This record gives sequence, structure tokens and C-alpha cells, in this order.
Amino acid sequence: MQTLHDIAPLRETLQTHRMAGRRIALVPTMGNLHAGHLALVDRARGLADVVVATLFVNPLQFGAGEDFGQYPRTLESDRDKLAAHDCDLLFAPSVETLYPDGLETQTQVQVPDVSEGLCGGTRIGHFDGVATVVSLLFHLVQPDIACFGEKDFQQLAVIRKLVADLHFPIEIVGVPTVRAEDGLALSSRNGYLGDDDRALAPAFHRELSRCRDALASGRPPDAALSEARQALQASGFRVDYLEIRGPSLAPFDIARHAEGRLLGAVYLGSTRLIDNVAVSLPRPTGSGIRHG
Ligand code: PAF
Repeated sequence: MQTLHDIAPLRETLQTHRMAGRRIALVPTMGNLHAGHLALVDRARGLADVVVATLFVNPLQFGAGEDFGQYPRTLESDRDKLAAHDCDLLFAPSVETLYPDGLETQTQVQVPDVSEGLCGGTRIGHFDGVATVVSLLFHLVQPDIACFGEKDFQQLAVIRKLVADLHFPIEIVGVPTVRAEDGLALSSRNGYLGDDDRALAPAFHRELSRCRDALASGRPPDAALSEARQALQASGFRVDYLEIRGPSLAPFDIARHAEGRLLGAVYLGSTRLIDNVAVSLPRPTGSGIRHG
């Protein structure tokens, strides 16, 4: 596997692949790779001739007081994992390479509406930072396909809208969340959890699953959400949000949608965890005209 840190050799190498008619798949990451990232690489491997992973801890998507400085940087072991998963090229630029004029004057990309609420409600500007760096990486790599995890479901929706609005000729592939055996969604931030919080963390997904089952069996959404919030708080989580949205994150309307997404964010101490599950609700009955 080739590792490149600069833009010129990246463009040169990829141009050679493109000229040879090879399909390129991109897997953008911030490193500290776990099985969730490697599932993205495996998926990309099955869809393209050339797999490019990027490793860049993007300062633009971290708010003031967030964990940019603390975010784990593990280039050597990430490189080994990518090579073991048959990745062809790792692009790991510095902040100065991607944003040579500094962050203050960097041109930014905003994806309105879908970036607002949920995680965008708490992490102000986060999705502008994501949309900006992903647009930049799309321009540099010009992939045919790009893979993103469904764990960051709002991010995936933001990127799908970005690609549609800016007419990027790129197929976006969403890859299901990879979980630990106890159900906790894999995340680089799980490493921040102490032993007690790590033992408690799987209750987040258990509660989401319980709420999904209650909704499927006809429990009204408001009641099911309120019970789940209470159960999470009673277990020791601080709930940031717990919401049901339509499949592409539009507001959920039970009269129109049977399928939706239950999304949540919780804090355990200062660590913020996010997760989501698909939900399927029975359509309300008794709304049609009955003929006797
Ligand atoms: O999901 C992530 O790791 C990041 O948000 C991404 C897509 C690599 C952009 O920095």
C-alpha cells in the first residue's frame, strides 16, 4: 500500500489509474481505525479496482472545547490495518496541506436543512466542517464511489444532499453500523470511556432497540420516546436528543411514513455517544371512511 501526504503525487497517481479505466473508491476517515472503518474498506474493495483511504483529523468539524487536540492519532497501526484489508493508497495530509491559508479564511460548504437539528443542533458548524473536507477530498480524489458508515446517519444524509446539489458524479454507499458483541456501536470515541462507563454504554443501544420494538408493536411515538428517554436517564445517561425522523431525515409524519429512523445522542460523563436504528411503525388505523 502506498502512503502519500501531498496533493501533487496523489493527483498524479490517481490520474494514472483513471487513464487505465480503473474504478476508484474512497473511504474518508479520521483514523484510529476499528472494525467499522475496515467494513467500509472491505465494501469499497468489493466495488472498485482501486481503494483509497484518507486519514485526516479535520479541525474544521470540531467545535471550540471539543476533542480535536485529544483525538487519537495512530498513523502506524492504521496503516497496517488498511494494508491488511487490501487498501491500495492511503492519503494522510497535514492540516497545512489541506488548508494552507489557515482555517479562518477557508472556503466552506454548507448543506442547509439536513445539517440542522439532531447532532447539528448541539455541534454548531460541525456539518459545515464535514461538508467542506468531504468536498475537498472528492475534488482531490475524484472517486467513482465513496463509502460512509450508517452510524453517522446524519452525516451520511448531509453527504448525499451535498453530492446531489453539487452534481458530484459519485455514488455514495452507506454501510451498516458495526457493533461490539454487547451491541455498542464501534466508535473511536469509545476509547474515552472508563471501565464503568464502558460497562454501561451498551444500554444505549438496548434502549434504542426496545423503543424500536415498542414502536413496531403500535406504541404511540411520543410515549415510546418519552419512556426511552426516562429509561436512559435512569441508567445514568444524559440525553442530548432522541428523535424519530423519516428515512432521509425529513420530519417524521406518522400519517405518511411507515419506515423511519430512530436517532439518539447521549453523554456518559463528557463522552458523547451517537447511535441509530431503522424503525417500522404500523400505519394508524380508523382514519378511513367506513361503509356499513
Ligand atoms: O466520519 C468521519 O470520520 C469524518 O466525519 C469524515 C467523513 C472522515 C470527515 O472528516
